[in-house]
Amino acid sequence: MHITRPPRLPGAPILGTSLRYLRGPLEFFEDAARIGSIVDLQLPLIRCFHFSDPADIEHVVVTGHRNFVKDLPLRDARIVLGDGLLTSEGELWRRSRRAAQPALHRERIRTYADQMVDASGRLLDGFRPGEVRDVHGDLMRLTLDVVVRVLFSTELGDDSRSIGAAIEAIMARYDGLVVPWIDALPTARNRRLRAAVRGFDEVVRRILARRQAAASAPDDLLSMLLSARSESGDPIAEEQVLAEIKTMILAGHETTANALAWTLHLLSCHPAAEARLLAALDGALGGRTPGIDDLPQLAIVEHTVTEGMRLYPPAWVIGREVVEPFELRGMRFPKRAQIFFSQWAIHRDPRYFADPLAFRPERWADGLARRLPRFAYFPFGGGPRICIGNTFAMTEATLILARMMQRFRFRTVPERVPVPMASLTLRPRAGLYMRVTPRS
Ligand code: HEM
Repeated sequence: MHITRPPRLPGAPILGTSLRYLRGPLEFFEDAARIGSIVDLQLPLIRCFHFSDPADIEHVVVTGHRNFVKDLPLRDARIVLGDGLLTSEGELWRRSRRAAQPALHRERIRTYADQMVDASGRLLDGFRPGEVRDVHGDLMRLTLDVVVRVLFSTELGDDSRSIGAAIEAIMARYDGLVVPWIDALPTARNRRLRAAVRGFDEVVRRILARRQAAASAPDDLLSMLLSARSESGDPIAEEQVLAEIKTMILAGHETTANALAWTLHLLSCHPAAEARLLAALDGALGGRTPGIDDLPQLAIVEHTVTEGMRLYPPAWVIGREVVEPFELRGMRFPKRAQIFFSQWAIHRDPRYFADPLAFRPERWADGLARRLPRFAYFPFGGGPRICIGNTFAMTEATLILARMMQRFRFRTVPERVPVPMASLTLRPRAGLYMRVTPRS
């Protein structure tokens, strides 16, 4: 077959497109998607491609997944997370996934709903009428509190500060291009990262030690991990359990907090969408605290979160590394090439979303999700490595958004409009400052 070369994203000699990436990672992938459905990103040192055709993404993530492992930048997160579910491969990954699955099963998540709502109530009780606060910071603490309570049956107290510091250091590490050997350099940023990782490790070791010393074991994810056995009957090694706890804590709260923060900001900018949401909420609940059985009546809240994650996907790019060279659509991809798919770019493609930059939760009301190609909208990825917490996240985000909107009006402060920071996740760079006013 005749082999063609994919179009290239224009770059400079030697540095390739790295400066272009550093100037704006989101625009970088938008530009790539405009050039073609398969584009050579021309980053230095290693071959990198962007795929934006949903069928090609499906090939990599689902049909041909055995020929791919996680991409280099994600694997680099092992310095923080160890070999947990997000970063591991092969048998190790399969065993972790099997061990964690029951804790994140749909039926199980129903039992977490009340704790999700109660935690939001505690947060909102602390709001002073009319004050301006960093709602992104609030949501980070709220979702952290929830994940630690429901999956590990514990409370963090002051330890939540160490986790907050670890997250800030990790996000700073991923703010720019990830060059693995750079971690070894004695820079201030690296020292902060290492100190933050140590702080995070200590918190997680304390969670584990408390459990090991406890007289009885609650029925939660931690117990599942501690009682899991390999096919040969061996328990999961302690380092591995620690990696799984770290992974669930990190992956299980920051993304959901970002999804909620961006959605609140979008609602603040779109009063008509906000008014429709409030009317539906008041109609369905009449001021009553929402619970899991209300979710079928709260479809509009779910559509609002879905639309928020379309425009501001917390996982704004994911990727895979090629294990063995392969060909696709007459193009050849070498071993170790990195293939990226940017949700940010693809979720804004007018071929799939009419008026793509408009915030319109109602576009999801008439079955759009079923009509779209599988990978035109993929905030949670897909295939075997699909987010294990997707139902958890949607349940939590829907209930929390419903509770927050019932009780307060949120208005982004005009002089502090949030700017996206495209790091490991897509977060508001300097927080989300909103004025909070009670609704009644
Ligand atoms: C809005 C919230 C969330 C978003 C947008 C999100 C997004 C994602 C994405 C895109 C992936 C796949 C990455 C890839 O294919 O390379 C992923 C994986 C993962 N997520 Fe989530 N996630 C969210 C919430 C959660 C929650 C609540 C949990 C846990 C309670 C969680 C735990 C994980 C884990 C452990 C993995 C790795 C799964 C595996 O490889 O088997 N996530 N997430």
